[in-house]
Amino acid sequence: MLANLAELLQDAKKNNYAIASINTPNQISLRAVIAAAEEVNIPITINHAQNEDDHIPIEIAVPLMLDYAKKSTVPISVHVDHGLDMKHIMKAVRLGVTSVMYDCSNLPLEENIAEVKRLMDLVGHLGIAIEAEVGTMPNNMPDEVHGQERSDLSDLSVYYTDPKEAQIFCEQTGVDVLTISFGSVHGMYEGEPNLNIPLLEQIRDLTPNTSLGMHGGSGVPYDQIQKAISSGIRKINYFTAIDTAPAPHLAKLINEADGPVNFWKLADEAMEIIYEKTVEVLRVCKNEAARA
Ligand code: 13P
Repeated sequence: MLANLAELLQDAKKNNYAIASINTPNQISLRAVIAAAEEVNIPITINHAQNEDDHIPIEIAVPLMLDYAKKSTVPISVHVDHGLDMKHIMKAVRLGVTSVMYDCSNLPLEENIAEVKRLMDLVGHLGIAIEAEVGTMPNNMPDEVHGQERSDLSDLSVYYTDPKEAQIFCEQTGVDVLTISFGSVHGMYEGEPNLNIPLLEQIRDLTPNTSLGMHGGSGVPYDQIQKAISSGIRKINYFTAIDTAPAPHLAKLINEADGPVNFWKLADEAMEIIYEKTVEVLRVCKNEAARA
């Protein structure tokens, strides 16, 4: 069923788990991710990132996502990930998304606040949950995703969210989700990931009325993810590890085939692997041991 992210986050806070927020840029991912959420019985958000638009235009992606979400047995918010401009976000709102991230994290704090408040004034009355970001998410995706440059990962502390800025931002905007930077990376890590849990807890204590989000879930050891959940993370964006999971198996299948391989067969195989990986990730987000 289609759900309101703000309500999902309230339940996640009450029961100490996190809403996984997963990009579904094709119908294979969409079906696999939703089937996994139904298997684990956990609410999720399914995402269309603005920079995925030249892979699958939002006019095609969102109606499909809404249709699947409505038919699902678990609550699902259809979400804009990293919306970068108001025009795109308003198009998404008209298409029926139930939550949006307006990423103005590259702007100075005051401008970031002003932009996010402008969006809230425009869509707040529609019950659309809003996510914003303070600090910077470093980027190291496997492919040059739609022109995004790779970040220097030698010192992740340069990207950290300033706790005072997070507090000011939340007090002045009242956003539903604030994504913070505390050691995670979009895409692949160099070396062992090391989330800064004390920084997360400091920000959590200064932003008591806001749900905190973490991007770059792929590659973070599951025990660190669960520590982050227990320290206040309520939304976890996860994509690369799920999306890259099928490739080695498909390559083997193609290499070992005697003759032509049907695409539907590859698609079915990919869907099964995405499903299995997503089930694994969702069990981590459900944090069942900590909830017991
Ligand atoms: P990963 O691909 O690193 O899991 O991050 C996804 C993400 O944060 C999308 O916004």
